[in-house]
Amino acid sequence: MSDTDAPLLIGLMSGTSLDGVDAVLARFEPQPAMLASAFVPMPEDLKQALLVLNQAQPDELHACQLAANQLAQLYAQAVRQVLHQAGLPVSQVRAIANHGQTIRHRPDRGYTVQIGNHALLAELTGLPVIGDFRSRDVAAGGQGAPLVPAFHKGLFQPGDGVVNIGGISNLSWLAHDGSVLGFDCGPGNVLLDHWCQRHLGQPFDAGGAWAAQGQVQPALLQAMLSSPIFQLAPPKSTGRDDFNPDWLSRWPLADHAPVDVQATLCALTAQAIVQDVQRHCPNIKRVLVCGGGARNACLMAALQRGMGAVPVMRTDQVGVPGDWLEAFAFAWLGWRYLQDLPGNLPSVTGARGERILGCYYPA
Ligand SMILES: Nc1ncnc2c1ncn2[C@@H]1O[C@H](COP(=O)(O)OP(=O)(O)OP(=O)(O)O)[C@@H](O)[C@H]1O
Ligand SMILES: [Mg+2]
Repeated sequence: MSDTDAPLLIGLMSGTSLDGVDAVLARFEPQPAMLASAFVPMPEDLKQALLVLNQAQPDELHACQLAANQLAQLYAQAVRQVLHQAGLPVSQVRAIANHGQTIRHRPDRGYTVQIGNHALLAELTGLPVIGDFRSRDVAAGGQGAPLVPAFHKGLFQPGDGVVNIGGISNLSWLAHDGSVLGFDCGPGNVLLDHWCQRHLGQPFDAGGAWAAQGQVQPALLQAMLSSPIFQLAPPKSTGRDDFNPDWLSRWPLADHAPVDVQATLCALTAQAIVQDVQRHCPNIKRVLVCGGGARNACLMAALQRGMGAVPVMRTDQVGVPGDWLEAFAFAWLGWRYLQDLPGNLPSVTGARGERILGCYYPA
């Protein structure tokens, strides 16, 4: 098959940070290739509605469906933008693979919920949509997350640890013997963003500049790190269900200057990753970082300090654009679905076996 005949997929990712929608146009034959990318920011009213939906509230079914409809409009906009970027008509695309927006993740109770109204997205774009990638893995007893390690395996090398720092941080460990481990480590940007919004009125701490001005508070850091959630063994996954304003309110943060709290949260985010690497990735060669957190210099420096002699670098430094890797991975999961191939790794999610992930909404 020539490159031009290979099916094109659009991967859509809107993660726990609620910063917006990443769209990637990709093909996977003869090898994975990203042809175009686009980002559509999340409107503030939708962000607030989704934040509220992460916790139980009255009449949440109705609110959830309305938010899903608004998300479908945003996803359709991202699809239009990425096609415009590529200079291609809709007719060239085989399908959209849409992660959706997680509003609850409770594999312990047998469910995970990503919303986005795939039917409406199919209607708005005229394209088939594959969505709900996580539920089948959860139904098979897995965590439903992370799903990207299988894709990382094809892109990186044995001995690499790939850390995605989105809202939550997750790690793929490509072991020297070819096996793969993957799990969520803890908070990614979610606590940093929240504290920054609360004290500076900004959605994130650009470059980690604010955190860099503070002093890490060792007793606070140790107290946070000794929470049971940081002692869990894989398979494990987390989300806003665990790391949210309520979690922060458990700690005596008012005793410290806000800037020192930001520095401490930055250290916590890094240390949760370092701890997991040290526990589960023997003889790791490199730590490759992707996701928005790779742009936080304070966090990257803390990771490098924690990893000592093991180099910590952005995936971009080895030729893989880290801002787009998650959307690229979901396009790949869509491609797996289209071929009737499994998308999960039971060694990662803890599922009883490999499963074909997703459900299909025809154009
Ligand atoms: N220049 C920057 N400096 C510091 N932090 C940044 C910068 N740019 C982005 N970020 C952080 O990255 C976050 C967005 O990251 P990303 O899009 O990878 O996460 P996500 O959408 O939650 O995805 P997922 O959780 O699925 O991996 C922002 O909320 C912000 O915290
Ligand atoms: Mg994002």
